[in-house]
Amino acid sequence: MDRFSILVGDITASDAQAIVNAANTTLLGGSGVDGAIHRSAGPDLLAECRTLGGCETGRAKLTKGYRLPAEYVLHTPGPIWRGGTYGEAALLASCYRSCLELAEEQGIETVDFPSISTGVYGYPMAQAAGVALKAIMDFLREHELPRRVRMVCHTEAAAEIYRQTYNMWYAGEKAERLLSPEGGNA
Ligand code: APR
Repeated sequence: MDRFSILVGDITASDAQAIVNAANTTLLGGSGVDGAIHRSAGPDLLAECRTLGGCETGRAKLTKGYRLPAEYVLHTPGPIWRGGTYGEAALLASCYRSCLELAEEQGIETVDFPSISTGVYGYPMAQAAGVALKAIMDFLREHELPRRVRMVCHTEAAAEIYRQTYNMWYAGEKAERLLSPEGGNA
C-alpha cells in the first residue's frame, strides 16, 4: 500500500513534515532516538519541551523541528517492556494513534516513525512491529491525513522484521481500498 512504507535510515535526516520522537515522560531528552533528535534539532527544542510539562505514556505532544529538516517533532513516550502483561501493547498502539491523530489535527501530510519502545525500553521488535503496523494501518483506513506514513528502522534487521510482519498481515490490501476512508471493494 503506497501510503505506508518501511525503510532503513536515521530519522533525524528525514525530510518528512513531522518525525516522531521515542521520548520519555519528562520530554527533557535522553539517549537513542531522543538523544539524536535533540542533538540535531539544537537547544531550542529542549527549551520548547520544557514548556510542555511532560507527556503521559501513550500520548503525544507537538513541537517545532528547529534545525532538523522536519518541520515538526511529535514526542511520544512509549511503554517500558515488563513482560507483556502490564498493558504494554495497548500503550504502544496508543503512541502511534496519538501521533497520527495530532498530525491529522495539525494538517500534517507526512509522518516518519521510529520503532518506538524497541531500544532502551526493551519491547521485543517482532511484537512491537505487529502492534505498530496494526495501529498505523487501522488509522490510515479511516483517515486521509497523513497522506504518507513511513517506519524508519535504524537497522536492516529491524526493517526485515517490519517487512515480514507487514507482508504477513497487509500485503493483500489494495491501495485504493485504503485510500478511500469508507473502504469498500477495490
Ligand atoms: N533513527 C531511527 N531509529 C533509531 C535511531 C535513529 N537515529 N536511533 C535509534 N533508533 C531506533 C533503535 O534502534 C530502536 O529500534 O529507535 C528504536 C527506539 O529506541 P530508543 O531510542 O532507545 O527508544 P525507546 O526504546 O522508546 O526508549 C525510550 O530511551 O532515549 C531514551 O529518553 C528516551 O527514556 C527514553 C527511552
